[in-house]
Amino acid sequence: MSKRLSKEALAEAGAGDKVTLIDHATGKQLELPVMGGTDGPKVIDIRTLYRETGYFTYDPGYTSTGSCASDLTFIDGEKGILRHRGYPIEQLAEKSDFVEVCHLLLYGELPTKAEREEFERDITYHTMLHEQLQYFYRGFRRDAHPMAIMVGVVGALSAFYHDTTDIFDREKRRTATHQLIAKMPTIAAMAYKYSIGQPFIYPRNDLGYAGNFLNMTFSVPSEEYKVSPVLARAMDQIFMLHADHEQNASTSTVRIAGSSLANPFACIAAGIASLWGPSHGGANEAVLNMLREIGSKDRIGEFIKRAKDKDDPFRLMGFGHRVYKNYDPRAGVLRKAAHEVLAELGKEDEPLLELAIELERIALEDDYFVDKKLFPNVDFYSGITLNAMGFPSSMFTVLFAVARTVGWVAQWKEMIKDEALKIGRPRQLYTGPAERDYVPMAKRK
Ligand code: SDX
Repeated sequence: MSKRLSKEALAEAGAGDKVTLIDHATGKQLELPVMGGTDGPKVIDIRTLYRETGYFTYDPGYTSTGSCASDLTFIDGEKGILRHRGYPIEQLAEKSDFVEVCHLLLYGELPTKAEREEFERDITYHTMLHEQLQYFYRGFRRDAHPMAIMVGVVGALSAFYHDTTDIFDREKRRTATHQLIAKMPTIAAMAYKYSIGQPFIYPRNDLGYAGNFLNMTFSVPSEEYKVSPVLARAMDQIFMLHADHEQNASTSTVRIAGSSLANPFACIAAGIASLWGPSHGGANEAVLNMLREIGSKDRIGEFIKRAKDKDDPFRLMGFGHRVYKNYDPRAGVLRKAAHEVLAELGKEDEPLLELAIELERIALEDDYFVDKKLFPNVDFYSGITLNAMGFPSSMFTVLFAVARTVGWVAQWKEMIKDEALKIGRPRQLYTGPAERDYVPMAKRK
């Protein structure tokens, strides 16, 4: 079992390092302990800073701030490393599958055969939704964005599965995490079916996680649908590659929501809302819309120019990352999956893929992108594959949310189990008006 670093072990890993803060205004000095983890940068423990100095720290966007200690995922942005519980993402993507990665993230180890059979059975038998939820969908306009439906339906789950909202009951917590992982594909497929006016398709227990999702999304009652093993494997890989990613915006949203002891369904709905933004999970949909707007290779230069223009809000979607200042390891795997899926579908000469590869080549030869270390990220190639598989671009972030649910619930579970759990409540630098007296209406100008 991967051991959780105790507070003592964290301090020990810092080898008793300390940093000394000198306040030149008062000459006061403060020694702050340094803590180290298994890998990656050490941290300065500033928990006593305000009490000892009266200062807050200031770090909008948390570029230099660690919000927690976590055993789940390690990223080294400079080296392009992503590991889940120590296993490199490239090895997991090639040799594992999504159900196994879910077990790894939730329970710390790759499952034995028996553990996998039990875990997969548990997930499978939670894939159906309460029948009343169908009426919840019917309240939406048919043209509602599927992410709007996901936020609404997932937030409403606590109204249907209220008995698993007791977050301090270990078994109920376990059931809620399994329910969320199991039901997300069903909820996502139903959002798609609703948007195209087709009947909802029930989950099938004889299909694997990804194959079941493809069947619920693309099959119709009037004819048999054969799940392509190549497409099911590609879908499963796409789920694995999006499963967890350290303390990204949506995961931090889930942790903050969970820190108030909100129920897990409400926390995951908050994570879905945060993921929707085009700077985060919404980028895969934005990449495809951007490639369609570029349209042809001879217009790439025009868009590269716009991306570099400070006065133009346009950014090259699918490029850049807060952490990766090297190639996002997921982008490499997704680029390979794109080729395999397009070949399987007889679309090797898909113009969007050719355009994306040329755009990547030109961008990575341009000093602006090289100097700012803006490489393709996880969203750059995923949309091309999903588009080829038949998903509309409005479903791309929904699929990201389906995959990321296991990361969200695993991070939430890790936080709830932490005996040092405190409500997340950042402070601020106040820059508003100084104290002033109320002005009666008659005296206002
Ligand atoms: C995801 O955090 C995660 O782990 C997220 C994620 C996950 O798995 O959870 O990996 C998933 O969200 C991937 C990112 C998807 N988003 C996009 O592809 C949208 C396009 N990318 C950018 O919006 C941007 O790169 C961010 C938001 C991803 C990162 O922004 P940062 O770290 O806050 O960096 P920044 O905005 O300060 O940019 C640094 C510089 C700026 O120029 P200067 O002000 O220094 O002159 O680089 C420029 C930016 O203008 N820049 C870009 C750019 N991204 C950054 N310029 C053009 N095109 C871009 N895409």
